[in-house]
Parts: sequence; C-alpha cells; structure tokens
Amino acid sequence: MNILVLGSGGREHTFAWKIAQSPKCENLFVAPGNSGTNSIATNLQIAVTDFDAIKSAVRENDIDMIVVGPEDPLVKGIHDEFTKDSEFKNVLVIGPSQAAAQLEGSKEFAKEFMSRHNIPTAAYQSFTANDLESGYSFLESLMPPYVLKADGLAAGKGVLIIQDLDEAKQELKNMLIDEKFGAASSKVVIEEFLDGIELSCFVLTDGNGYKILPMAKDYKRIGEGDTGLNTGGMGAVSPVPFASQEFIDKIEQQIVIPTVKGLSIDELPYQGFIFIGLIKVGNDPKVIEYNVRMGDPETEVVLPRLKSDLVELFEAIGSGDLASQEIEIDDRAASTIVMVSGGYPESYEKGKVISGLENITDSIVFHAGAKKVGNDVVTSGGRVVAVTSYGETFNDAIKKSYQSIELLKFDKMYYRKDIGFDL
Ligand code: AMP
Ligand code: GLY
Repeated sequence: MNILVLGSGGREHTFAWKIAQSPKCENLFVAPGNSGTNSIATNLQIAVTDFDAIKSAVRENDIDMIVVGPEDPLVKGIHDEFTKDSEFKNVLVIGPSQAAAQLEGSKEFAKEFMSRHNIPTAAYQSFTANDLESGYSFLESLMPPYVLKADGLAAGKGVLIIQDLDEAKQELKNMLIDEKFGAASSKVVIEEFLDGIELSCFVLTDGNGYKILPMAKDYKRIGEGDTGLNTGGMGAVSPVPFASQEFIDKIEQQIVIPTVKGLSIDELPYQGFIFIGLIKVGNDPKVIEYNVRMGDPETEVVLPRLKSDLVELFEAIGSGDLASQEIEIDDRAASTIVMVSGGYPESYEKGKVISGLENITDSIVFHAGAKKVGNDVVTSGGRVVAVTSYGETFNDAIKKSYQSIELLKFDKMYYRKDIGFDL
C-alpha cells in the first residue's frame, strides 16, 4: 500500500517512522516533510492545505491512504474533499470530516457538544461583539483567574488566563471588538478556571469502535518550572504516573465513551485520532479541549510505545472494524525532550548546522524544524528535534534522553532541563 503523511513536524516524522515499520507499507511519502522524513520516505514539496496539489500527488503516486498530521487541513475539510470526489473514493483519509473537526475548530462547538452529551468540563458562556456588556457581567460573576478563549483556531495562542478582573474585561474587549486574534476571536468562550494537573488522552476511532492509546503529559511552557511563554511543547512523557488504572477507567467511562457515542448521535463522521486535553481536578477528569489530531510532542512518546501495526489499525478504521482489533502497548516508559532554536517561541535565527546526529545510539531523534542542505542538517524552525528514549522506569527514559542531547549541538540551542522532574 502507498501512504502519504501530511505535515512537517516531529509528529509527522514519528508517524512516518512508525508506518515505515509496517510490512503493509510499500511506498511512503510525506508532504512537505523535513530532514527526518527525507531519510525514510519521499518528501513532496506540497503545502498541507493545497488540496489540488495533494490530489495530483495522490493520483501520480497511486496513494491508498492519507494520514493527516495537523489540524489546519482537517478544519478546512480535507476528509470531505476526498470522500466526496468519486475519483478518490477508495482513498482512506485518516482524520475526521470537516463537521467533526469543529471540535477543534470552534471552542463553542466543542463546549456545546460536551454539554449535550454530559461530558465533564468547565462551566462556560460564549459572547460576541453584540453582547460585550453581558460578557462583563459574566466575568463579574466568576472568581479569578478568568479564562478567555478565542472561539476559532489561533495557532495555540488564543487562550488567556488572567488574574485581574479589569484586565480580563479589557482583554475581552480586545478580542471581540479589536479582533485581537482576527476572526478567530469574533466569538469568545469565557469559562470557569479548573485547578489541577493536566494530561493528554489519545483515542483512535472509526466513529463506532475506539482504542485508547497510552496517556501522555506534555510541557508547554518555555521555561523551567513551567514558567514563561507557551510553546508548541518542550517535552513529553508516557505513561503518566498520576494516571492510575482507576483514573484511566474514569476517563473511559465519563469521557471517551460519551464522546464517541456523541459523534455518532450527532452524525459527525470520524475516522482518526481524538486528542482529549484533560485536567485532573481532585480525582476526577475534566475536558479542557478537544483536538482532532495527535499532539506534538506527545506523538513522539505515544507511537513509540505502540507495538501494534499502525497501518493495520488504520485499515480497520477504513473498514469500520476497529472494535475487533487488539492493541499491544510496550510496558517501557518513553520520554522526549525538544531542542529549540534560541529565542523561540519569539523570533529566532534559522540555518544553524546540527552536529552529532550520527552519534546518537540510545535514543531516536525525531526531526521537526530541520531540513537537509547539501550534506548538512540545518535548523529551519523553532522546535528543531525531539529526542525520544525508552526506559525500564520513567526516570531511566528521561536520563537517556538527556544523555543523548549532550551529543547534539547547534548554535543558540535551548532545551528544558526539567522535563518529567515534577512527576
Ligand atoms: P487550550 O488551548 O484550550 O488547550 O488551552 C491552553 C491552556 O490553557 C491549557 O493547556 C490549560 O493549561 C489552560 N486552560 C484552558 N482552559 C482552562 C481552564 N478552564 N482552567 C484552567 N486552565 C485552563
Ligand atoms: N502538545 C500540544 C498540542 O499538540 O497541541
């Protein structure tokens, strides 16, 4: 079978790495890919939202399956684009329909979905420019901190958590009236602040059956001790020590089952990954957000722990037969540490040569913002590589990643030295 992975990050290199291990995969393509995918697949210089170019590539290369990494093409409707086109009706797209992708594309849609299906989440109300005054009143009725969320996609920047009431009102106005996040904040969800510890739950579903993948925890802030600006993610670990089997059972009963059932009741076609951002409040899980894709860098610890053939699972999704599949998980722990360009998540320089890659033997280096120039691998983005290791224990896995990182170098590189230490 010929398979195309869409995306260019560490997540997509990990997908390609896992898919390439399947005997079912004949030819593997990644669009646009990076220096990591280049060494195990054929990179195609196509943007992930250029549906016409993707169709041409599918036609030319006889692609049977498209695995969509990022949310953008999903929210823009890539799934429907293929299923509705008779020429491509046999191409399996792993990723939900446009209607279902609203779970990530609109915070209000996600909150309404949860409320309809009794899925535990923070209390909320949503507002537009016409009801700014009601928004102020709602803020006054809440205790700080105040959580303001732009309804639409805002590249991970659309959530503000603010201590001061006046500042929260000002920001609400900035979002609704001054379009702080463009059209994405023409509607704002204000919600109750949930105090607890976060984790990520990943579910694979064909819309009826589902499989829960290993839990993971990511580290979003740039600075040690979870300080400073939000990033795409600076590291991740799996499993999550504070997620006991009992707690995972609660997640399944209270959240995963009602979510999958809700998709079917609401007739939202879903063939792909659901990423449920959770917060553990006391002993109970609550949903912070849905994403309609895998997480990055969580993928870099979740897929390495999946022993089953991922392509077989995808095929089962295509035939609506996922429920009958068994999945096998590696008992070992996995950690990943992300090395970033100095300055990220603000401005940073690119084009720095990465040295030492060939010396890494105890870890897997998943490339992200890195590209091949001549014989060199050079930096081309903020998050440059994710260094993943297995360990018998959680601590072993983390220690190995840090030992491997010692062997890697590029000018102005930065990474957090405390990934997993809080656990
Ligand atoms: P989101 O983009 O919805 O994942 O939100 C970004 C981050 O804001 C989350 O990872 C949480 O750390 C935080 N957050 C979002 N909603 C809440 C909430 N209701 N209570 C506390 N923290 C929240
Ligand atoms: N690591 C968080 C995300 O992928 O959204």
